[in-house]
Amino acid sequence: MLNKPKLTVIGSLNMDLTATSAKRPAAGETILGERFDTFPGGKGANQAVAAARLGADVSLIGMVGKDAFGDELVQVLKQEGVRTDHIGRADTSSGVAVIQVVDGDNSITVIPGANFQLTPAFIKKKKDVIEASEMVLIQLEIPIETVAAVSAYCQEANVPYILNPAPAQALPAAIIQQASYITPNESEASILFEDTNKALQEFADKLVITKGEKGVVYNGGTIAAYPAEAVDTTGAGDTFNAALAVRLASGGKLAEACCYANAAAALQIGSSGAQAGMPTHQDVTTFMRQNGENPL
Ligand code: RIB
Repeated sequence: MLNKPKLTVIGSLNMDLTATSAKRPAAGETILGERFDTFPGGKGANQAVAAARLGADVSLIGMVGKDAFGDELVQVLKQEGVRTDHIGRADTSSGVAVIQVVDGDNSITVIPGANFQLTPAFIKKKKDVIEASEMVLIQLEIPIETVAAVSAYCQEANVPYILNPAPAQALPAAIIQQASYITPNESEASILFEDTNKALQEFADKLVITKGEKGVVYNGGTIAAYPAEAVDTTGAGDTFNAALAVRLASGGKLAEACCYANAAAALQIGSSGAQAGMPTHQDVTTFMRQNGENPL
């Protein structure tokens, strides 16, 4: 690690209610599953934990309910060394995600709950935290007006920010223009852009499309994924984004940061739940060396 970059993640905290089964039930069908787990999750919390494990100084700006899930979600972040003083408590239930895992792959329904109380007015009070960051990381499980406010603050203060547009929705042009990097997966990219090949040219050095086991593409070409056996892919995208942020904020170039982020994601999918398998910086560099790379 070149330094300990100061990262601010702005996004969701959810309790993940995860059912693992041999197949997905069809409409109207009841099946018996194999196991049920509750895991801490939410794209914001996952990215904060991943970045902290990789050695960044991380603050999370988010919102939970005044309920037991909210207590637990904040507690887990504290244990991971994430700064939690900018997480608010709303008079509603905490966010939950109902997740179905089949053959290592997931389908997710998110009930945003308190995450949708992360308003522009709340964010305005956190402007100084945003301005003091070396990199900001944001996703779309919070109100779009809040994303727009963060985007404008980052631009005003010249703070680079990564927009992970998940779950995808059409975005105001200003948000796309102001983002330093945009990291959709393939299906999100097709919602955001009519022609992804054209978008890769138009947003050169900004748009990075993740393609799972096929690696990532940007205007400089494709960066291959590392071979990995998936137990549960939940949180792989979050790990990728956090690692990309940490590496770019540490002075890495885009291609090298993507390679590092691919390695982090390959390690993360080896465990159940979003956060359990998130690697440390040491884990990532060891894994890269084992695969013939020479990380900084
Ligand atoms: O990216 C994975 C996350 O998406 C899960 O942890 C779930 O909470 C949803 O937000």
